Amino acid sequence: MKTALITGGAGAVGAAAARLLASDGFSVVLADIAHERAEAICAAIRRDHGVEAVAEAVDLSDPAACRRLIGAVEQRFGRLDCLVNNAGKTGAPRIGAVDLTAWNEVLAMNLTAPMLLCQEAQPLLKASGGGSIVNVASRVYLSGTGVAYTSSKSGLIGLTRVLAVQLGPDNIRVNAVAPSFLNTPFNKKIVEEDSGLAASFRRMSPLGRLGTAEDVAGAIAFLASPRASFITGDVIHVCGGTQLAPQPAASDGG
Ligand SMILES: NC(=O)c1ccc[n+]([C@@H]2O[C@H](COP(=O)([O-])OP(=O)(O)OC[C@H]3O[C@@H](n4cnc5c(N)ncnc54)[C@H](O)[C@@H]3O)[C@@H](O)[C@H]2O)c1
Repeated sequence: MKTALITGGAGAVGAAAARLLASDGFSVVLADIAHERAEAICAAIRRDHGVEAVAEAVDLSDPAACRRLIGAVEQRFGRLDCLVNNAGKTGAPRIGAVDLTAWNEVLAMNLTAPMLLCQEAQPLLKASGGGSIVNVASRVYLSGTGVAYTSSKSGLIGLTRVLAVQLGPDNIRVNAVAPSFLNTPFNKKIVEEDSGLAASFRRMSPLGRLGTAEDVAGAIAFLASPRASFITGDVIHVCGGTQLAPQPAASDGG
């Protein structure tokens, strides 16, 4: 049975992706520092979808733990068909407030961990006949909020493109999804502080709403599926149109 590893699997997007991949028949491994939450989600997935679902406790900011994670998947399932690099963290928004420790923490989680997991997973994906890597980036790579966050997510798209070229001959496809501001706990503080950001994103979208974890999971599951068999090195914007430049109002519609 095909196996998918989802980092940050106890979070909103990770859990939604795990549920959708399970409904597509994947066994799923949810790797998260929030182990109890991951265990509970796995129990629900086993009950609802009848596939294997296991939680791996891991701190992805630790390079050695990233390497051990792929070993644990290999030991348990003997194969890997899909790696979803989903876990991420934010940092200080303005350049004047960036401190080097925080910068390094954001890059370790958002860029170094995905790179290490791709490196470690490559032989296992190849031995499984190929597969799909999906990196969860962000719309911020287009214009940015957060210096370390934007830099790390832009780097993740660079990683996606270079690995699509390098791993294609192993039949490994590498793509990214770039969500905009989502209605998930990741943004709880911003929404609570009522900075107006959530409302701005709602207004910016031609669809007039914020995205959900399930919206992002749909794109991840598509990229993991044979329906995306000739798509690699690409970025799917799960942004409700907020990636488009706003158009000035024109009375003649031109
Ligand atoms: N929510 C948004 O608005 C939004 C927008 C664009 C991109 N994204 C990206 O989507 C991804 C998922 O976001 P989400 O909204 O589901 O976030 P979330 O906070 O719900 O989930 C993140 C998960 O990562 C886990 N995690 C944190 N630190 C960890 C560590 N050191 N080791 C292992 N696991 C760790 C958390 O426990 C949590 O379960 C992130 O990469 C984020 O940058 C989110």
